[in-house]
Amino acid sequence: MTSLSKSGPNIEILIGKARDGHDLSREEIIQLLKMPEDHSPALFKAADAVRKEQMGDEIFLRGIIEFSNYCERNCLYCGLRCGNSKISRYRMTIDEIVATAMQIKSMGIPTVVLQSGEDSFFSAEIMVNLIKRIRAETGLIITLSIGERSLADYQAFGQAGANRYLLKHETASKDIYNYLRPGCKLESRLQCLFNLKKLGFETGTGNMVGLPGQTPEILADDLLIMKILDADMLGIGPFIAHPDTPLGGLDNDDLELTLRVLALARLITRNTNIPATTALGTLHPQGRIMALQAGANVVMPDFTPEIYKSRYDIYPGRADIGSAKDIMTKLQIDFSFIGRTILYSVGHRQK
Ligand code: 5AD
Ligand code: SF4
Repeated sequence: MTSLSKSGPNIEILIGKARDGHDLSREEIIQLLKMPEDHSPALFKAADAVRKEQMGDEIFLRGIIEFSNYCERNCLYCGLRCGNSKISRYRMTIDEIVATAMQIKSMGIPTVVLQSGEDSFFSAEIMVNLIKRIRAETGLIITLSIGERSLADYQAFGQAGANRYLLKHETASKDIYNYLRPGCKLESRLQCLFNLKKLGFETGTGNMVGLPGQTPEILADDLLIMKILDADMLGIGPFIAHPDTPLGGLDNDDLELTLRVLALARLITRNTNIPATTALGTLHPQGRIMALQAGANVVMPDFTPEIYKSRYDIYPGRADIGSAKDIMTKLQIDFSFIGRTILYSVGHRQK
């Protein structure tokens, strides 16, 4: 008997168990991460069924504005790291950010994601004013993705009208975290996530797949963190090597494994909002569509003005180049091919 046929029925039973909403142990998650590739379609199908049952067939859109590419951190994987002197830095003005938010609203998209590097130029006071202006002038739901801040800052952002916060834990391995994010601590990041949850933010976490030294065991721990945190949104994307970083030159061949982690995240967390990440679309022309058929239900088109967009160079070759209108038209065509439509509503997580 080959190892494949030995693992066959067992794996099918496990996938069925996950699809039906039974908890998976860490060992079972590891088994599904390691299973032979010919079982992947069954895993993706199960995740797609749970996505349909829990979230429906509509895709939620979030419009992203990358308003500053300054970053005070020096993460080894990221093009925005302060040690990258090749990047041309920018900060959008408050008026530019509000005008871009208006554009997102005019497309019928109800939520905006304000994203930046860790840039203390945007102090709590500046952020509070920005949040208040966007709320007053557009009524958009606001998601922040601006890194680690104090509890007091998070509280101020919430009081000003921000509703959601994205802060990926990046990796569950302390060793890899310490190596890749010099001067940062995984415990501090998790503390920020707990603070955000406690303050009532819809909170997003997530990881990168394909980091050096990452194992299936570590990926299983990533999935367990997502579950234990009871995160509302999960961003799961492949690591893509950036040539102007210390990790330049590493391979980017983790499409299949990223989709597997995403599918498992859907099966384990059930009713979370999971984007088909831009990084997946960068790795493969059909990457986002594949993710939407393996558990994802959210797409986050990039509305950063053209003059800045290419300078938000986290990793090379990012998808979504073009005007807002072009991006929307292309998405609508892509979605219709797989029988999905866009839902122009807020898309809070239903508990
Ligand atoms: N490849 C993929 N994703 C990356 N990020 C940063 N650098 C890379 C990279 N090289 C992601 C991280 C972070 C966000 C800013 O972008 O997950 O949360
Ligand atoms: Fe800065 Fe985030 Fe990039 Fe790290 S991953 S360098 S914190 S933007």
